[in-house]
Amino acid sequence: MQIHQYDTVIVGAGGAGMRAAIESTQRSRTAVLTKLYPTRSHTGAAQGGMCAALANVEEDNWEWHTFDTVKGGDYLVDQDAAEIMCKEAIDAVLDLEKMGLPFSRTDQGRIDQRRFGGHSRNHGEAPVRRSCYAADRTGHMILQTLFQNCVKHGVEFFNEFYVLDLLINDGKTAGVVAYELATGEIHVFQAKAVVFASGGTGKMFKVTSNAHTLTGDGQAVALRRGLPLEDMEFFQFHPTGIWRMGILLTEGARGEGGILRNKDGERFMERYAPVMKDLASRDVCSRAIYSEIRAGRGCGPEGDHVYLDLTHLPPEQLDAKLPDITEFARTYLGIEPYTDPIPIQPTAHYAMGGIPTNVEGEVLKNNTDIVPGLYAAGEVACVSVHGANRLGTNSLLDINVFGRRAGIAAAAYADTAEFVELPADPGAKVQAMVDLLRESTGTESVAQIRKELQESMDTNASVYRTGKTLEQAVADVQALKERYQNVAIQDKGMRYNTDLLEAIELGNLLDLAEVLVVSALAREESRGGHYREDFPTRDDVKFMQHTMAYQEVAADGSTSIRLDYKPVVQTRYQPMERKY
Ligand code: FUM
Repeated sequence: MQIHQYDTVIVGAGGAGMRAAIESTQRSRTAVLTKLYPTRSHTGAAQGGMCAALANVEEDNWEWHTFDTVKGGDYLVDQDAAEIMCKEAIDAVLDLEKMGLPFSRTDQGRIDQRRFGGHSRNHGEAPVRRSCYAADRTGHMILQTLFQNCVKHGVEFFNEFYVLDLLINDGKTAGVVAYELATGEIHVFQAKAVVFASGGTGKMFKVTSNAHTLTGDGQAVALRRGLPLEDMEFFQFHPTGIWRMGILLTEGARGEGGILRNKDGERFMERYAPVMKDLASRDVCSRAIYSEIRAGRGCGPEGDHVYLDLTHLPPEQLDAKLPDITEFARTYLGIEPYTDPIPIQPTAHYAMGGIPTNVEGEVLKNNTDIVPGLYAAGEVACVSVHGANRLGTNSLLDINVFGRRAGIAAAAYADTAEFVELPADPGAKVQAMVDLLRESTGTESVAQIRKELQESMDTNASVYRTGKTLEQAVADVQALKERYQNVAIQDKGMRYNTDLLEAIELGNLLDLAEVLVVSALAREESRGGHYREDFPTRDDVKFMQHTMAYQEVAADGSTSIRLDYKPVVQTRYQPMERKY
């Protein structure tokens, strides 16, 4: 077992991790540990843009952006955090421009902006052009730009190092433990400050826009160390995933004028959202799509999808603004988007919940107290700027604003703090976990348990939920967790053991799926991305609060979920009926 020592360790090299690293490397001795090569991180899959009220192409301001974010999140947003994000958005975009990001431009050479779901002028009056973009490759460009700037600043990466444990001693952060994929060795990283920026959990669903690697590793590590997870029941379904595959087709397509149509060719969003139409927020559009399908107006022989219609847009516009997604339609579906509508369905896209933090990225261990030296940013975290439903383009913004903040705060902490003594035998827990899986002679397969988990989550915990479906999901997940105890892997080797990696990832997904469904079952209301058909209205009296879920371990080693609640921070906006 190797032991390393750094002032600051960042876990994850997507947008949030690299944005944090650029700051912390300039202020403290920093290491970035990443399961993937940085430029393969999932930020690269984000397409349509990063919003900021630059007002480059029409009137806009950060207060309207804040209002849209709070309303889009169905008033579960912590409004102090949203104000910071929307104010700092402008500098965050300009910082990226200065770092070299090749944004799409207006004829006058300014950063161009386009429409996106839920973003409006003057508190919902009409759609506004707020999303700054680089064709439909904005996430890819952000990732490349941040990586190049990390190289410029000499950021030290440990690639294909998979963090499996967090070390806390006497209530303070002491470091992390990682598994090196190339060798199978365990490494302990002693650090004064640790920043988790390890991304989302979307692979617990079957139809998802998420990469195979999005298995909630950071969230699971925190949960098992007794930290809470906030608002995990709120999972976003993006309206336009490629039918059955889930691959993302950007909302930017509707921002450019694309239209959702049912089998009769009707622009059905006019009925659900008369003002914003196809640019209503994602939860509204996804429910509308399934309502059309349920009413028998779905497309295709099985009536199980609707169309994204781009055929009325000039081919030159599609080529310039949406080159990737039009190519995806050709490659994956054999559809020519110039002439034919594209079959789509909602796809599991984004976890609004995660490790609770304050606006400096400091991790909370309960409703009020932080864990000194521990930070989180990006999709792994819940600073609660997205509430119950994130607006499109607020995620690339979140990673830049709160990645930067966490990097600065972690380095500042490391500057004054002492190293915390490592616990005795710091790698023991991880070594035991790895040995157990490698030596298991069990009869269950990782692929089969993962398949059943994903099928149950798609059936029971998706866009529409009821108490009955959620109870089924809880029972399914708990039974799968039981079977996971008997899982075995084929590859017993040390080098590049991806079989072992997938088994660990499955364990993470199971724990997090349990948190999601238990939290969702207890929330007897409908809000944002959490829609309960048995409780179809929002209940601000009982549920204007964040869920805080803790994993409890019994004497026999079995686990259960305990729920607590935390008030929402409200500043300027009172909850209103949410019309689009
Ligand atoms: O539709 C999209 O381009 C996705 C953007 C986002 O999730 O923010």
